[in-house]
Amino acid sequence: MSKDVIIACDFPSAEDTFHFLDQFTGQKPFVKIGMELFYAEGPSIVREIKKRGHKIFLDLKLHDIPNTVKRAMACLADLQVDMTNVHAAGGIKMMAAGKEGLESKGGSPLLIAVTQLTSTSQETMEKELLIDHPLPEVVTQYAKNAKAAGLGGVVCSPLEAGTIHRACGRDFMTITPGIRFENSAADDQTRITTPAKARLLGSDYIVVGRPITQADNPVEAYQRCVRDFLGTAR
Ligand code: C5P
Repeated sequence: MSKDVIIACDFPSAEDTFHFLDQFTGQKPFVKIGMELFYAEGPSIVREIKKRGHKIFLDLKLHDIPNTVKRAMACLADLQVDMTNVHAAGGIKMMAAGKEGLESKGGSPLLIAVTQLTSTSQETMEKELLIDHPLPEVVTQYAKNAKAAGLGGVVCSPLEAGTIHRACGRDFMTITPGIRFENSAADDQTRITTPAKARLLGSDYIVVGRPITQADNPVEAYQRCVRDFLGTAR
């Protein structure tokens, strides 16, 4: 099983992204391409980053009726990314349809589900979404649904990784954003953890954005994440 640090490349353009990635001479970090960059640049940004030798997590969080998700995933299958995702809130049928679409071109990238966004608090769930179960219970149920749909893991908070592994098995991957260094700004994240703590909690991949992209020295910040999370330098 491979553990890794994934850098969230939340940049507005290809130019900004390559300016950032060019700093990593000799290293090819696993990168996450999200909605901002994908909607700004289109599929070509995925092809270009892949051509440079990076592994790619395409974070588009699909959520629609099963047939639409299946057909959209069949388009994404052509990009041959390493990992992509759907929202578990779309239900088991939708997630299974997504997997079918994604595997329709012969590959089998890791398909994962978003449980509750790490920016969502218990209060938001109760007051805005009218979900009155405790947040960890909702997250575990969403993870079980993802497993039932044949998915390989979930995006969740590191704080939930242990519970999810106990409920869905150790091979079921936990991909965890909401990572911050000790004493750094939380930004809009509410359930945050350090890379070292995420390791202790059993996260399989940590997704780190602003603590690396906004750092004075992004390469140093990435290496610090790798050291703290993997327990070894790169
Ligand atoms: O900058 P920061 O480290 O907060 O970035 C976290 C990244 O992980 C963002 O790209 C965000 O969209 C993503 N993400 C998240 N919470 C989830 C799923 C994805 O923060 N539950």
